This record gives sequence, structure tokens and C-alpha cells, in this order.
Amino acid sequence: MPRGSIAMSSGRFISIMDTTLRDGEQTPGISFTPAQKLQIAERLDRLGVDVIESGFPVTSDGEATAVREIAASGLSSEVSCLARAEKRDVEIAANCGVGRVHVFIATSDIHLRDKLQISRDEMIRRARETVEFATELGLFVEFSAEDSTRTSLEDLHEVACAVRDAGARIFDIADTVGIASPDAIRSYVAGISDTGMAISVHCHDDLGLAVANSLAAVNAGASQVHVTVNGIGERAGNTSLEEFAIASELLYGFNTHVRKEMIYETCSFVSKVTGLPIPRNKAITGENAFGHKSGIHTHGISRNPMTYEPFRPELVGRKRWLQAGKHSGRHGISIQLRCMNISLKQEELDWVVKMVKQNGDQGKITTDEELQRLAFKAIQTSGVRGK
Ligand code: KIV
Ligand code: ZN
Repeated sequence: MPRGSIAMSSGRFISIMDTTLRDGEQTPGISFTPAQKLQIAERLDRLGVDVIESGFPVTSDGEATAVREIAASGLSSEVSCLARAEKRDVEIAANCGVGRVHVFIATSDIHLRDKLQISRDEMIRRARETVEFATELGLFVEFSAEDSTRTSLEDLHEVACAVRDAGARIFDIADTVGIASPDAIRSYVAGISDTGMAISVHCHDDLGLAVANSLAAVNAGASQVHVTVNGIGERAGNTSLEEFAIASELLYGFNTHVRKEMIYETCSFVSKVTGLPIPRNKAITGENAFGHKSGIHTHGISRNPMTYEPFRPELVGRKRWLQAGKHSGRHGISIQLRCMNISLKQEELDWVVKMVKQNGDQGKITTDEELQRLAFKAIQTSGVRGK
């Protein structure tokens, strides 16, 4: 099956670790109350994500409350939270009642030298001791090497072996500044795979590659992907849940537990709570993702929607729509009118098409309301003419 084709199911399952409530909340301009976090967690659970990263409880009282409430709310998704490689963070996480913790420390030279100001040996010691501590408390440990993709593979491998021996079950490769290419991600995943740990990937979208890099990771053997709803997150954001879930299934045949038909309502809900609108041209959930305007396209769509759509909009809980414009033809406009239960005579339709094109040339959009108005005007005028 060549890349880019619609694939049959490969049957391989990819676990979805959603970090909307943690990395997503790190988006400038976003802050959730505990009640909002619980509401979003319930939506994520219904959507079918495998793991919910509910927050970073050491950061504030409200954050710890949110993590505690989500952990106690009886969701089917596993509930995790973030902790630095420090015993205090893990203790607070455990006290919030989660069964799983996401421990991280930076592993790149630049972070060790200029941010943490510790040696590589000290970083490994902290990582190992924190993972051991969390494991002894009975927590399932996922470990992230922050800034993995600016860490040499050799150094990253050493960290991976240390945390594996300390009890970590998942090793997460973090492309913290979104700098990796799909080729680089593939090499990192392949280079860590001999550790025997499940591999995860956490991609940022600084170069617009978060989804492509996450797909490259799963193709190289990663079994978990970190995502956020609407791709929100630090700076340019993280791998978008909706784009990854659809692309991984349609292009490569991977399976996830995501209920695709609930994607649109979940993304709309998160957009409402965050106050961040979904861009009109956003893949999958943008207003325009299933809108068709040019005559050639609307004609094709009327014959067979697959001519200009990669998949049915209903798959993700959406509907297609058409808009008249200067590129529209008689065929497309008559289909739109038929949807409004309006049928025009030949000369009436010709006049409406002429007016729509005139609107377009004047930079005006012909909305459904305007199209209806034009149609009624055409009927009235031709009625007068016909007498
Ligand atoms: O981007 C990053 O490195 C993170 C880590 C905490 C995984 O968000
Ligand atoms: Zn991140």
C-alpha cells in the first residue's frame, strides 16, 4: 500500500495519551478551573482516549484539586499527571490518587548546562531515583526525556536504560521545541527500541510537523502518542488529537479507541471552554474542511463526494456544505437551491448565476440567505414578466 493511499486496517493499536489538560493548558491565554478540567476530562473519556494527563499538581492548589477530582471520578480512561524528577512532585501526585505518573527531566546539553545547571550524571541519578521512588509507591511510570531530539541518541539511550532498570514502563521521546524531522524521529524511535520499553512520542508543532512526526514515530514502532484537542499547547502547540486519529487510521490503518464521530463535538467543546476559536481552514474540524465552492468541485461532489473529499464528513460528526461564488456553475447553484427546496426555471437560474458571479467580482460572498433572496427575486421578476 503506497503512502498517501487510504489504507485497510493494519490492526496495530496505538494508545492515545491526551495532554490537553496539561500541555494544552500551558498555551498562552488558557487557564482552566478545576470544574472546567473535570468537564473536559469527562468529554475526553467519552471520546475514548486511553490516558488523560490531568495536570501538574505541584504547580498550584487548584491544579492538585483538579487532578484529585479527575482521578476520583471513575473514568474509563487511565488518569495520569506530570511530575518533575523530584520525590516531592511524585509524592504530591500519589496523594492526588492517580495510578500513573509522568516523570520528566531534560536530557539535552543546552538544558543541562543553561537551565538545570547540573551534570549528565546528576540528571541520570535524579531520573533513576525518582522513577524508583514512584515505582515503590506502586505507580505506573511513564518517563519523558525533555528535549530528547536535541540529545544525542547515545545519551538518550543511556537515560532510557537507567529509567527502565528503575521501573519505568514507557519511554517518551519529547520533541520539546518541535525541531525534529520525521527522519530524525524515526531514528530516535528505532535507536531506543532495543531497551524493551514501550515507546511514546511527544511532538510540538513549531515547524508544522507534529502530526507528521507522530506518524513517523508510530511507523518506526512507537505504541503511544501524546496529543491535545485542537492541537493546543506551548507555543505553536502539540500533535492534534483529531488530525492524528484520522490520519493514522486512513493513511496507515492503525487503530485507536477514539470514537471518531465524537471528534467535532469534543473539539468544539474545548474551543468554547478555552476561548480559542478553531481556524476556518483547520483540517478535520475547521468550518471550511467540508465546504465546497468552485463549480468544478460542487459538480464533482454532486456526482460522487469522494471526487473532492478524502473521507465522509459524517465520519467525524460533520456535514458537507456548498457555497455559491464566482467559480460556481448552474449545476452547483441548482443543487444548493434544491437543498433549500427551491426549483427555478432555466432563465431564472441563469439570472441567479449571473448575479452570484457579479457579487464575486465585487468581492462579495453569496451566503445561503443571499442566494435564497436572489432566487425569490428571480421568481418574482419572471412571474411579472410572464403575465
Ligand atoms: O514538551 C515537553 O518536553 C513536555 C514534557 C513535559 C514531556 O511537555
Ligand atoms: Zn510539551
